[in-house]
Amino acid sequence: MLKGDDVIIRKDLAGRWYNAIFSRYSVRAYDGRSVSSDIRCEIGQLLDGFSPMCKGARAVLLEEGSSEILSGFMGIVGRIRGADLVLVLIGDASYPDHEVAVGFLGEGIILHATSLRLGTCWVSGTYSRKAVEARIKLRDSEKVMAVSPIGFAKRSGQRVGERAMEAPRVLHKRKPLESLVRGLPMEDWPSGYREILESARLAPSAVNRQPWRFTVESDRILVSAARFELLPMAARKLDCGIAMLHLEAAAGATGIQGEWNLLSNPPGIAEYVI
Ligand SMILES: Cc1cc2nc3c(=O)[nH]c(=O)nc-3n(C[C@H](O)[C@H](O)[C@H](O)COP(=O)(O)O)c2cc1C
Repeated sequence: MLKGDDVIIRKDLAGRWYNAIFSRYSVRAYDGRSVSSDIRCEIGQLLDGFSPMCKGARAVLLEEGSSEILSGFMGIVGRIRGADLVLVLIGDASYPDHEVAVGFLGEGIILHATSLRLGTCWVSGTYSRKAVEARIKLRDSEKVMAVSPIGFAKRSGQRVGERAMEAPRVLHKRKPLESLVRGLPMEDWPSGYREILESARLAPSAVNRQPWRFTVESDRILVSAARFELLPMAARKLDCGIAMLHLEAAAGATGIQGEWNLLSNPPGIAEYVI
């Protein structure tokens, strides 16, 4: 079983996901090979959640329909080809923090897939909602919030179905940490804070907006949503949930113990009490 105890992500998973943070990137071209049933089962164990922070979210792994679902905008922009599986991320609107939960759950599954050398890509815009909804049963309060292809990344020059040898090139274009944090000056941060905040900084976000800010205190880190007039709070909450998963995985991997308190006063999203 891959589930953690009542409070935190299981330690071995945190270590594995922390390592995956540095090799994950958005993969938009796949080589068409299929993912083994063992790996599908392993990913399947995470779909209903792995920590209390996933409450209000669930995921479904579709084994067919990827080309129809990931056909892009009008079939032209953003088409993703060759993925074997599609991860569907669902939020339950009866939970006020379901967007944060979807980000947290989805990124745990995505980093787990990365640790299994699979490619992924969060997609909340360029997919066919109709094609997804034709394949899954939603409860009245549920909505599909994003999908991700899962499969083997295609490398340049590789033919479909051929195994790739070269390692992927990892790019992380992100804002500098200094522009994302406030509170305690960096030189006064307790040990391990730099690692966990650096990991949160590397989180993926829609259109790479990185709409998260961190207020650092000696015994807690407050996560809040940055101001973006054009980006709805729901989208920012989802991105913050992704960064929170990175933060907790890094904390677990570096031996820092903490617990999340969700906040109900946006732009405050949650605080990680250490
Ligand atoms: C919530 C979310 C939604 C996204 N939606 C799309 C999308 O609709 N189409 C797409 O091609 N990429 C999408 N992305 C991928 C981002 O563009 C990508 O994560 C970001 O540019 C950072 O690049 P990286 O993932 O390679 O580090 C999305 C990412 C997130 C986190």
